[in-house]
Amino acid sequence: CGIVGYVGAQDAAPILLEGLGRLEYRGYDSAGLAVLHRGALKVRKVSGRVADLAGDLPARFKGSPGIGHTRWATHGEPSVDNAHPHTDMAGRVAVVHNGIIENAEELRAKLTADGVEFASQTDTETVAHLVAAAFGAGAETLEQAVRLALRQVVGAYGLAVLDTEHPDRIVVARNGSPVLLGVGEKEMFVASDAAALVGYTRQVVYLDDGELATITATGYRTFTIDDRATAKSPSTIDWDIIGAEIGDHAHFLIKEILEQPRSIERALSGRLDERFSTAHLGGLNLTVREAREFRRVKILGCGSACYAGDLGAQLIEDLARVPASAESASEFRYRNPVVEPDTLYVAVSQSGETSDTLAAVQEIQRKGGKVIGVVNVVGSTIARQVDGGIYLHAGAEMSVAATKSFTSTVAAFALLALHLGRIRDLSPTEGARILAGLAKLPEQITAILEAEKETGAIEAVAKEIAARESVLFIGRRRGFPVAREGAQKLKEISYVHAEGYASAELKHGPLALVSPELPTVAVVPDDDLFDKNTSTLAEIKARRGPIFAVANRELPVEIADRTIVIPANEPELDPILQSVPLQLLAYHAAVALDRDVDRPRNLAKSVTVE
Ligand code: G6P
Repeated sequence: CGIVGYVGAQDAAPILLEGLGRLEYRGYDSAGLAVLHRGALKVRKVSGRVADLAGDLPARFKGSPGIGHTRWATHGEPSVDNAHPHTDMAGRVAVVHNGIIENAEELRAKLTADGVEFASQTDTETVAHLVAAAFGAGAETLEQAVRLALRQVVGAYGLAVLDTEHPDRIVVARNGSPVLLGVGEKEMFVASDAAALVGYTRQVVYLDDGELATITATGYRTFTIDDRATAKSPSTIDWDIIGAEIGDHAHFLIKEILEQPRSIERALSGRLDERFSTAHLGGLNLTVREAREFRRVKILGCGSACYAGDLGAQLIEDLARVPASAESASEFRYRNPVVEPDTLYVAVSQSGETSDTLAAVQEIQRKGGKVIGVVNVVGSTIARQVDGGIYLHAGAEMSVAATKSFTSTVAAFALLALHLGRIRDLSPTEGARILAGLAKLPEQITAILEAEKETGAIEAVAKEIAARESVLFIGRRRGFPVAREGAQKLKEISYVHAEGYASAELKHGPLALVSPELPTVAVVPDDDLFDKNTSTLAEIKARRGPIFAVANRELPVEIADRTIVIPANEPELDPILQSVPLQLLAYHAAVALDRDVDRPRNLAKSVTVE
């Protein structure tokens, strides 16, 4: 979900709508805003998109300060009633909130017993009533009322509160869900994500968990729930404004796919050390001694970040010869994991805000483990929580489905693996081989994208796939995470069911599904496992299953019905190239099915709830 707030001399609504539009990629089944005008609260909410909200606003929706929200439903269905802002019964207080209030049921029962009538099913509404009740109990300032209210709240929140009796300010609070302040000229902003502030200010103050803030037109004050002042100074965000604009593209997704030669270049920029055949990673915060002594690597992330982590684990095993594995952070955090001092933990997150990944990081740190991050968004919560790390510098990724962040994450792992390998056991010659492979990636990705522009071969396959109910993606070794990510892309944006499977596992189950109706997309690089891969394809062919291969040369039709030919790099780096046609495949299938490509149903870019 997303939060935006504004206080200053301008009307808040247009600024809030613009900010919400930029946050919409994070969550979006309803939207709303509230402004103060001549001592009264004006609230507008819709079930739908920010554009629907804009269309619904009367021409003269004047007033400031204001707060706005886009919502991804957790408690309660998407509906106007459940959309934020939520208000108290008197219409004095308005609240927008990200996160989950865990004791909402209990609070609701208590408030109901006190005579409060609820207008929605949300957990958030309890906060509006609690703040109003705090005023009723004698709180004089908005800050005091919010502090008293939050003392009763258990759970995660990033929230912003407006009060008609204190019309010069917004009070915000953070506990487990990001909030940052934007410092302008005689105006102040608040947002859950820096993206909302693009074009308004680059000066931001990140709140920490347990921190609250008041913003007025002239400044801000930060403090704790016990009203102890905290000293915070602004930092400057380096926001690539172009990165957040769609330009001439039909969708952000295709824009981001096409950007990959540049995004990979940025991931590599300044990090390739040809003199010592290694990679420079300035932010790792790992001494040579530490890098040499740990005995295992454990990688954690969710969704595509976890699949990229799988490839990262293979790179680390291949190049640094350290046992490495990836696991979904959401599973890890709940199983009382054994945290060992000689394991290096790596948290992967494009947004740097995924709540399950953050919780895994905190759990490891609580148990004394060292965690480094592979993160795209600079200054995000995970980036600030970890003990060091690698920024992707992929630029803003607006489409819900990860594309350039996926390939950049794998490239970042190649750098990490090379760096660790050269400290441990990798020869300079091998290091140079990987460096040369990395340097070739941008032009090879360009070649894949150009070839598609000329031939439309992937789009043609996509059209066939779009007509099917289900698709199997298979790969072996490094091809396996590529297949899983390919399946993930297809299902999330086209809603065609897909499964990513290890090729050799096919005969232990899914081969039963194979028929002329079930196509298989196979990753078949020209490597030492080529023959193994083609024998799997023969098993599929024998059951008359259609096969689309991603390979380094045209395969005979007896093996694959169609081949998407891509260039080969070093085998360790090939997954980066193989991922690109699978992204295009998902994209064209989604377009053929007329899906909402950038904003697939039920999903959010950044999942800040458990
Ligand atoms: C959400 C998105 C996925 C993404 C995952 C992890 O579920 O829909 O596309 O891979 O979160 O996001 P992160 O920002 O942590 O990489």
